[in-house]
Amino acid sequence: MEEAQIMGGLHGADGIRFRPMTLDDIPDVMVIEHESFTLPWTENAFRSEMTQNHFAKYIIMEKNGDPIGYAGMWTVVDEAHVTNIAVRTAYRGQHLGERLMREMMLMAGRMGMTKMTLEARVSNTVAQSLYSKLGFRPVGLRKAYYSDNQEDALIMWCDLPEDIVAEGSEWNL
Ligand SMILES: CC(C)(COP(=O)(O)OP(=O)(O)OC[C@H]1O[C@@H](n2cnc3c(N)ncnc32)[C@H](O)[C@@H]1OP(=O)(O)O)[C@@H](O)C(=O)NCCC(=O)NCCS
Repeated sequence: MEEAQIMGGLHGADGIRFRPMTLDDIPDVMVIEHESFTLPWTENAFRSEMTQNHFAKYIIMEKNGDPIGYAGMWTVVDEAHVTNIAVRTAYRGQHLGERLMREMMLMAGRMGMTKMTLEARVSNTVAQSLYSKLGFRPVGLRKAYYSDNQEDALIMWCDLPEDIVAEGSEWNL
């Protein structure tokens, strides 16, 4: 498969494209971050992830050149740990979060990951529904994981589809 296909590198008819996040994206990412989370990451957190964490991979979803979503993960041995995923409020409910998550799963598989895990607030039924649709299953709770309201985190795992994994590791973000 061509890299452009893997990344959705060319704009499709709907203007959606996926690409690696860069430091220049941080202002746009912060807008989405604050729209999306009650405990938003700081600019420095994203900067540090991109400059100091060799396990971290972050991608941007653009529409007609404008960042409208992003997602990130840590790739540890053969496990991908999703750190965050968010879509701009105005673009939610159009299956774009699903495309973004599928892109992350494809990228992880290409990098040789065989499993993916993440946490979601127990109250975040939208995210949990998305993850369940993509094959994630709940395996346990992290009690009082979120410091703003002591909410529990639901831990979810999925095996990445073998046909993705079998393609080998072509990603090198
Ligand atoms: C979670 C998030 C990324 C989903 O993106 P989205 O573009 O809104 O979702 P999609 O349109 O791709 O929907 C994909 C699936 O998610 C679920 N979903 C989406 N919106 C939903 C809603 N309002 N109610 C219930 N389930 C919903 C459904 O399973 C849906 O599939 P379906 O339409 O076939 O039933 C987005 O809502 C978001 O950015 N939320 C804020 C940040 C966040 O919570 N991130 C996850 C942290 S764990």
